[in-house]
Amino acid sequence: MASVQQWQTLQDGLENLTQATAPMPTPGRDEVLVKIHAVSLNYRDTEVVAVGEDLEVAYNVGDRVISVCNYMHRTSHIHEKDMAAGLGLPLPGVLQTYRVFPSIGLLPAPAYLTDGEACCLPVASVTAWMAINGMRPLGQPGGDGEVVLLQGTGGVSVAGLQIAKASGATAVVTSSSDDKLATAKDLGADHGINYKTTPRWAEAVMECTDGHGADIIFENGGAGTLRQSFDAVAFGGIINCIGYLGGKNNKVTDEDEDRTGVNVLALRRNMTLRGILNGPRDRFEEMLHFYNTHEIHPVVHRIFPFEESKTAIQYLFSAQHFGKVVINVSNEATLPDTKGEDMITM
Ligand SMILES: NC(=O)c1ccc[n+]([C@@H]2O[C@H](COP(=O)([O-])OP(=O)(O)OC[C@H]3O[C@@H](n4cnc5c(N)ncnc54)[C@H](OP(=O)(O)O)[C@@H]3O)[C@@H](O)[C@H]2O)c1
Repeated sequence: MASVQQWQTLQDGLENLTQATAPMPTPGRDEVLVKIHAVSLNYRDTEVVAVGEDLEVAYNVGDRVISVCNYMHRTSHIHEKDMAAGLGLPLPGVLQTYRVFPSIGLLPAPAYLTDGEACCLPVASVTAWMAINGMRPLGQPGGDGEVVLLQGTGGVSVAGLQIAKASGATAVVTSSSDDKLATAKDLGADHGINYKTTPRWAEAVMECTDGHGADIIFENGGAGTLRQSFDAVAFGGIINCIGYLGGKNNKVTDEDEDRTGVNVLALRRNMTLRGILNGPRDRFEEMLHFYNTHEIHPVVHRIFPFEESKTAIQYLFSAQHFGKVVINVSNEATLPDTKGEDMITM
């Protein structure tokens, strides 16, 4: 146990990700040394989350733990000063064999999940949970009878699909791929819309919901999709700004030609536009209770060995996956069956 193997980045591009060796850290007061078994990848190249095994006090030695994304964000809204405690940015990430965590930055891993599944919870699932339940009181999750629109079939959307269906909601999924839409339907999606072949997918959302629209939208495309989301949202609904896979800068499209302001777009359906930054620890615990009750298994598309982490991140960026891409860090992680590379024919 003399050293730690880790992947490092200076935030200067995927091609510059390097493997390094560092001395084994020693935990201080209220800290825990964790042997990391599995991490799941998220769209941000260095943003990774872990499941591992506690090697020091605070938890019992050998306990399986999962990391929280930001240990200072314990309840309610995140404050700007708490951003300093972000795992992966600005703090060191978890794509390494051992790491010291503050004990408040860990939660017990659900016993019914493999390491490969549990490591998908802290970012993708918590973000999805907040998109669906973040506006409701803690302890009173809902969704029953609502329409939830999931953009794309990446980690956050697939987690959202699973939570939506377990909540009793109607789920509408958009995707670039008919094969992925078929897989989403196997998971319970009620409607699938290919946004490549149906660029004005908001009309299709209105059609399949009998003119109601989506009560909750996972807005992952950003500038490329927001205008459609404003047309797809239900009266009184919520657009959750989660990602900007379709770009950060507004483009002038046919729909924008009328130059309707965001204020009017929001007012006309009395809707809420809100930014999501993961979620607090207490909502993570609330979500774990829900996952346990419904025995939700995160969907892992492909698992890579630690040595192939760079390839794994490039694979994630190529967007061939459905759900999550995971790294078996310790080579001893318990792993789920994967859908596999061949599931998607692009
Ligand atoms: N705010 C937060 O707290 C938070 C947390 C996690 C992630 N995020 C962000 O949320 C986004 C999704 O994260 P993720 O981890 O789910 O990513 P991911 O697993 O890499 O998902 C990528 C998928 O999104 C879909 N997609 C790509 N471009 C799109 C577009 N222009 N419009 C609609 N869908 C598109 C594609 O699915 P199809 O091939 O099916 O179309 C693609 O496979 C990223 O931007 C990420 O940075 C934010």
